[in-house]
Amino acid sequence: MKIVKLEARPTAWEIRPGQAVDGYGYNGQVPGPVIEARAGEPLEIHFTNQLPEPTTIHWHGLRVPAAMDGTDDVQPVVQPGETFVYRFTPSDAGTFWYHPHTNETEQLEKGLYGALIVRDAAEPVTDGERVLVFDDLKLDRNGKLAPFGGLKQRHDGREGDVRLVNGRAEPELAMAANHVERWRIINASSARYVRLSIGGRPFRIIGTDGGLIERPVTVTEALLPAADRLDILVGPFEEGETLAVEALRYDRMTIGRRGTEPFATLRVGPAAPSGAVIPSVLRAIPALAPADAAPTRTVKMSVGPSLRRGLDFLVNGERHHQDRPVRVGELQIWDIRNSSLMDHPFHLHGFFFQVLSVDGEPPAFRSWEDVVNLPPRSTTRIAWIPDDRPGSWMYHCHILEHHQAGMMGHFEVVREGATPHPAAHRHAHAHQHHH
Ligand code: C2O
Ligand code: CU
Repeated sequence: MKIVKLEARPTAWEIRPGQAVDGYGYNGQVPGPVIEARAGEPLEIHFTNQLPEPTTIHWHGLRVPAAMDGTDDVQPVVQPGETFVYRFTPSDAGTFWYHPHTNETEQLEKGLYGALIVRDAAEPVTDGERVLVFDDLKLDRNGKLAPFGGLKQRHDGREGDVRLVNGRAEPELAMAANHVERWRIINASSARYVRLSIGGRPFRIIGTDGGLIERPVTVTEALLPAADRLDILVGPFEEGETLAVEALRYDRMTIGRRGTEPFATLRVGPAAPSGAVIPSVLRAIPALAPADAAPTRTVKMSVGPSLRRGLDFLVNGERHHQDRPVRVGELQIWDIRNSSLMDHPFHLHGFFFQVLSVDGEPPAFRSWEDVVNLPPRSTTRIAWIPDDRPGSWMYHCHILEHHQAGMMGHFEVVREGATPHPAAHRHAHAHQHHH
């Protein structure tokens, strides 16, 4: 068993030499420590909250027991001064992350997020590996966190002009010529999409949210919506090259618009011998269902005007939708319809899905995902099977402001023969939402 100690506390977050922001950190750092785990090895995270407000930790993408999911549906929030022990056994190798699931819009922006890497024996051999957590930060003129809220932030989600990799503004990265590295990329931004380019050069995608894909896929750019992950092979490059690690212009139909913007600079130093061994087949991912499988459920995401709130972010016409239960072992084919005029990153807690089609078109390659971008006015068909982890689960838009505004669904995973009582369940927890 592996034990990790995490403490959330106010932290002077040094975003560049000599400039610190009053933020929050896990163990006094942003990002929090990279948690290293092995598939099949139990993990205990002893978490202490030293923030001036309640919090919880959600293990984003990990197939944990429902009670360990870190939402206030499944646990009382951890009050200031309290400790909570998260216990689970990671089952799948891959690039995951952790973040609060309480007052998320503020707590993530202030710096509470970190990577959790799960390894197993069957991994490609590379000349090096880095975990790169992308984020952005919205500061005011005095270098303090800009105020939260307002209609633009509610509509677009919060984006900022400080672009960070591993908590530092536009850092320099150095790499040896001739080397091939594995980069594990996590987009921890509240709302920003990263359409990743590395100097316009080809790179190879080898993994997504739920671990390795079937074979490397060569691209020159890849879109990471908020909360998404990608494992890529970078290089080989030649000595003396300088490459911009940047987000290309992406219009997700927001009020604010941005062009191509740099996140980091990669400098290629003297050559070193390469020992990289990249198999042409990484693993097999059997299809859960054919692309034209009939949907068992429709989830409708929409945005509409609201007299009281200005704008509402809805699932099936409701804020904080209560969806029907699903049964353990029963194949789920969900049509996720985005009827709004903007993109939304859909996130399912605790289970991986396969994308079967987007507006009838199959994806470029098969993969396991827990986040998928929903383009404006589109239907994305996904397939997944609830394995035997009954309890309360949820899905939501991972633009944190949209999630907060209600673009989410709660549902129960129930065992065969069990009688679901979702409404009763919601009541049992209702008091926790109003502490
Ligand atoms: Cu990153 Cu509710 O999740
Ligand atoms: Cu959204």
